[in-house]
Amino acid sequence: MKCVVTGCAGFIGSHLAERLLQEGWKVVGVDSLTPYYSPELKRRNLASLERHESFEFIKRDILELSMRELRGAEVVFHEAAQPGVRASWGESFAEYTRANVLATQRLLEMCRELELQKFVYASSSSVYGDVSTLPMHEALLPKPVSPYGVTKLAAEHLCYLYWKNYGVPTVSLRYFTVYGPRQRPDMAFHRFARALYSGEEIQIYGDGRQTRDFTFIRDVVSATLRSAESEAEGEAINIGGGSRVELIQALELLAELSGKTPRIKRLERQHGDVRDTLADITRARRILNWKPEVRLEEGLREFVEWYEREMLT
Ligand code: UGA
Repeated sequence: MKCVVTGCAGFIGSHLAERLLQEGWKVVGVDSLTPYYSPELKRRNLASLERHESFEFIKRDILELSMRELRGAEVVFHEAAQPGVRASWGESFAEYTRANVLATQRLLEMCRELELQKFVYASSSSVYGDVSTLPMHEALLPKPVSPYGVTKLAAEHLCYLYWKNYGVPTVSLRYFTVYGPRQRPDMAFHRFARALYSGEEIQIYGDGRQTRDFTFIRDVVSATLRSAESEAEGEAINIGGGSRVELIQALELLAELSGKTPRIKRLERQHGDVRDTLADITRARRILNWKPEVRLEEGLREFVEWYEREMLT
């Protein structure tokens, strides 16, 4: 079985590609190594993949891909994106629309020509915005509160309409704040770890009482694999970790596991930040026969071990 993983040098894409290779897939990994964060870190994410004989790396922008690279693929895992909720305002929105909306449309357009088993799109909890009652379930009308969320939702709609009109077998997975080894360096836990180990102040946006349904990377990867083999088509599915906690509590846990004492600096709440997230995963249980296995403490322990092993040397 051959598949394509876009964003294969990123946090989720690299873990997914690794697992696919372990399971015997031939993986074509596409990534343009954008400078949103250090391409050096992305190169490191690729290292173990590149040693694998069933892995082919194509360093290219999705907008420059041709059918030649996609031909023969049975599944496309579209993990590439311009990520980051808080950075998507102002002039940078142009890059978000290009990378998240236009690139997805081009990829879907090419996928019309393939005999795909599934097109899995990495969507986001940020499509929901601030909902009046939790948990968030897929039937709610999405109302993103960040420009980033708008682009992720627009791409979900594109996935739907390419399914509806052309039968491209798309499914959108709404990942909820993913964490674990190789987490992106702009995300909360990675920033907190960097500050803890270097003795710098930890910046908390707002009162720190915002909550997140944190999802461990391994759970995200298994849900993604299940979706490729599932019956799901033309729909969105929540993938949440079941570990909803206040940010400040998560920080305490991280500090405890690392044996460091945090020095906290409070900053203003950031525009575009959702106050609370919690996934209703009834659909994922039913359609994917999936549920999260890793609790926050266990996942954070693995994250701390990785950070000490890979990031402090
Ligand atoms: C994360 C990812 O960054 C998005 O790419 C993804 O689409 C989204 O999850 C999702 O659920 O789909 P976010 O929930 O903002 O977005 O995750 P973090 O960057 O880990 O931030 C979590 C919370 O910590 C936010 O409220 C943020 O404001 C706060 N934070 C972050 C701080 O207080 N200080 C920091 O230094 C960083």
